[in-house]
Amino acid sequence: MKNLIAFHGSDHKVGTTMISQSVAELISKNRKDIKILWVVFSTGDGKDYANYVSQSVGGFRLQIHSHILNDVEVMHASKQSENLYMLGGIKNYLEKRNYFPEMTKYFLDCIEGKFDLIIADCGNDLDCGLTMGALESSELTYLIVSQRESSLRKYEMKLDFYKRLDINDKGIIINHFREDDPLTLDYIGKRFALSYELFFRVQDSKFSRQAETDKKSLLSYGDNSYNNDIAKVAASILKQCGLGCLKKDEEKRKKRWISFI
Ligand SMILES: Nc1ncnc2c1ncn2[C@@H]1O[C@H](COP(=O)(O)OP(=O)(O)O)[C@@H](O)[C@H]1O
Ligand SMILES: [Mg+2]
Repeated sequence: MKNLIAFHGSDHKVGTTMISQSVAELISKNRKDIKILWVVFSTGDGKDYANYVSQSVGGFRLQIHSHILNDVEVMHASKQSENLYMLGGIKNYLEKRNYFPEMTKYFLDCIEGKFDLIIADCGNDLDCGLTMGALESSELTYLIVSQRESSLRKYEMKLDFYKRLDINDKGIIINHFREDDPLTLDYIGKRFALSYELFFRVQDSKFSRQAETDKKSLLSYGDNSYNNDIAKVAASILKQCGLGCLKKDEEKRKKRWISFI
């Protein structure tokens, strides 16, 4: 689906929710002209870092199952601000088996054209129909790993699945990035012979626990390294989707233009 961007983690806690939400929030604040839906296509109520999110895809399960979903209702239930909409996923972990990839596809068909950009938190569980449907439908998938050996091994184990499934995984993000980590970017790149077109890192922020307690994304803490890294991912998404660039970049370019004339 055009302009559906999926984030999928190699493991738990690599930061799939945090990064996808941060990217959605940053774009929505920077580009008021872009209507964004951030949605969890996995288990989770969407409230990890935003306790005001009140509805979830699971809440529409019967409508989805019976093919009577109403796009206006979805928009109304997920609206947070003029241009940011947020929806959780499957609240009850035990119910994840009640979802099939076709249900995600039907959901996406129903809301097609209502948003300029859909940012999906696709968790880390390939054994979830909702997730599989989103990964198969996305225009672009960013895989998220950390510098931990356990997360890299999980990624290694899943690589075969990623290859067999028709996942459009052009991007990889090394989250919780630390310059002094023994597993350097260079090492990771070589170990996996990475040839991703989009290779990003997101700095490990010291506000991790605070964000969990405050139920806010890490963007709220003025951590320049984190914010700049998220801005790079956001800018790349806008570019890939043909939605222009972040405003600051555009303004900078305009200024440069004027000084030339
Ligand atoms: N770049 C980062 N720097 C510091 N903490 C991070 C970063 N990304 C995520 N976190 C923290 O890591 C923990 C797990 O993040 P989360 O997004 O919930 O993981 P996942 O969705 O992959 O299970 C949270 O405490 C979150 O605040
Ligand atoms: Mg998560």
